[in-house]
Amino acid sequence: MFATKPTILVTGGAGYIGSHAVESLQQAGYNVIVLDSLVTGHRDFVEQRLQAKLIVGDLNDSNLLADIFNSYQIDAVMHFAAFAYVGESVVNPAKYYWNNVTGTLNLLRAMTLASVKKIVFSSTCATYGVPSIVPIPEDHPQVPINPYGTSKLVVEKMLADFEVAYGLKSVIFRYFNAAGAHPNGLLGEDHYPETHLIPLVLLTALGVRESISVFGTDYSTPDGSCIRDYIHVSDLADAHVLGLEYLLKQDRSEIFNLGNGNGFSVKEVIKVARQVTGKTITVVECDRRPGDPPILVGSSEKARALLGWQPQYSQLETMIAHAWSWHQQRHSLPRSEQVTKLSLVSKPIYNTGT
Ligand SMILES: NC(=O)c1ccc[n+]([C@@H]2O[C@H](COP(=O)([O-])OP(=O)(O)OC[C@H]3O[C@@H](n4cnc5c(N)ncnc54)[C@H](O)[C@@H]3O)[C@@H](O)[C@H]2O)c1
Repeated sequence: MFATKPTILVTGGAGYIGSHAVESLQQAGYNVIVLDSLVTGHRDFVEQRLQAKLIVGDLNDSNLLADIFNSYQIDAVMHFAAFAYVGESVVNPAKYYWNNVTGTLNLLRAMTLASVKKIVFSSTCATYGVPSIVPIPEDHPQVPINPYGTSKLVVEKMLADFEVAYGLKSVIFRYFNAAGAHPNGLLGEDHYPETHLIPLVLLTALGVRESISVFGTDYSTPDGSCIRDYIHVSDLADAHVLGLEYLLKQDRSEIFNLGNGNGFSVKEVIKVARQVTGKTITVVECDRRPGDPPILVGSSEKARALLGWQPQYSQLETMIAHAWSWHQQRHSLPRSEQVTKLSLVSKPIYNTGT
């Protein structure tokens, strides 16, 4: 089919999940070009750690996208670039529709103009809203309850329409909660502000935060706290390579959930984090947050059956142990320097981008 391995444009490849996918693509022998605005991503992930080509720029820059597709023979796109803070999307939906919807539309138009007809897209379990069946299958109704989830659902609809009109084929992955870090310590999660449970618990263990809040302890779950599905970021990255290969070989669009299939409660995460780190982790029990479903667990049977995907790191202990090694390394600066470092990377998070 291809004389040499195809060239893949990875948008958002300087971010948490995108950088792990770049590494998996490199391991599989693909040529990779990263497009990232670095608004939340890290130059060192791409240039130093992965030694991949980085183009710093924004999805909403049409001229830049045209230049990229004219300058390189791109065979497919993996599209991770987006904003992904649910709470922020509620108070600033314009920022989310501009970046996640308009930015993706711009990308799809540039791909269509350049006759690039294959894309792997990062969607989310947030498109399902409050589930009526658990584990959630791919054909569960999609009724998102926040603008972030809606922005991703709009892109899913755009991809279906672009297939009918222009023959664009897509593999859509709806992820549950990405967790862990690269097993060799190369890459990991470094969001600012951080909102995900496992890094927040580990930052508490490190003393960067004073405590971890548990929102709701009276849910109808075995220990009263919410249950979520965590999937190791390296397993996610491997699924992307399999999804890309499926797209290149089968030339068929598909949608897959990517999750663990097993949920873990907030209290279980904290218990395992205490065991792995050996540290005291102070917990503050708070009221429920509006819109938090008690249980969010996905079925990934379809990805296993059709792609042959076999997650390697589905144990919570392993995910937390890998994340712990990463956070210890990333936050190894003395506390005073750490605070300065965090304030230096602080960006206007409520910038509408318009
Ligand atoms: N982290 C999760 O648990 C999770 C769960 C479900 C879905 N997702 C989706 O996966 C994708 C990656 O998430 P992540 O956790 O790695 O986030 P991240 O913030 O670490 O990575 C996103 C990357 O995209 C870049 N970016 C954002 N807007 C851009 C733009 N307009 N132009 C160019 N680059 C831009 C950022 O600089 C960053 O490097 C996102 O699309 C997110 O919605 C993540």
